[in-house]
Amino acid sequence: MIDLHSHILPGLDDGSPNIAESLEMARLAVADGTTHMACTPHVVPGMYENGTENIVRAVHSLEQALRRADIPLALYVGADVHIAPDLPNQLTLGKVPTLNRSRYFLFEPPHHVLPPRLEELAMRLIEAGFVPILTHPERLTWIKANYDVVERLNRLGCLIQLTADSVVGAFGRTAHYYSEKLLGEGRVDIIASDTHGAKRRRPGLSQAFDVAAKRCGEDEAYNMVVRRPSDILANRPLEPVGKSTFAKMPSPDKVGRFGGIGRLLKGVSS
Ligand SMILES: [Fe+2]
Repeated sequence: MIDLHSHILPGLDDGSPNIAESLEMARLAVADGTTHMACTPHVVPGMYENGTENIVRAVHSLEQALRRADIPLALYVGADVHIAPDLPNQLTLGKVPTLNRSRYFLFEPPHHVLPPRLEELAMRLIEAGFVPILTHPERLTWIKANYDVVERLNRLGCLIQLTADSVVGAFGRTAHYYSEKLLGEGRVDIIASDTHGAKRRRPGLSQAFDVAAKRCGEDEAYNMVVRRPSDILANRPLEPVGKSTFAKMPSPDKVGRFGGIGRLLKGVSS
């Protein structure tokens, strides 16, 4: 599986504090079936002053550490980009990284306050040639009173990323409710771990895959953790979330007999 949202780089934000923790996170991710991971530290002006240069350096150094420790996890450059008025410019100049230099980037609005002109900023980013991936809208406290904003951002062309822990119910009832709602409406493009550590907010997508498979069918769950993330890293255009997938949704017991993500991944490698 391909995890496009992680705070695995050591010492750059509130994620991994040191290389030992990063290696443990990588081990946990690999044990759970993650083969590729985008390293996406926070970019928040005045708080986490990260940018392309230092993130690329940190990815190279973690890659070397993974090789020495014999951990088979492929890393990609990215960032968890907080909204900022000059963001279209920062991305165009390459000062803030997209995901693996593609047109796609993680777009993080504030958690507790709906900022004015969020839709206008999204529009400017799309017009500049980028595809914002709205990070975990299910966890934003303002979603309750402003669900229509998420709907409109999605309609404008923003993709939707759910956090794996929200999907399995580990982020509380509200995040779980909105995960289910967004999945049910066919709005979810990808599921990612947003891992911050080896003990708290651990990596792993397999449990969320199982829940999404029961909700939307195995093929669509596969799209969320393998196919679309792979297209994003390769800068390919995405297939829209298929309504037809929902029509041929298998019953939960059938999903169990299919054998989960392992069976689907076997199909990919062969
Ligand atoms: Fe994040």
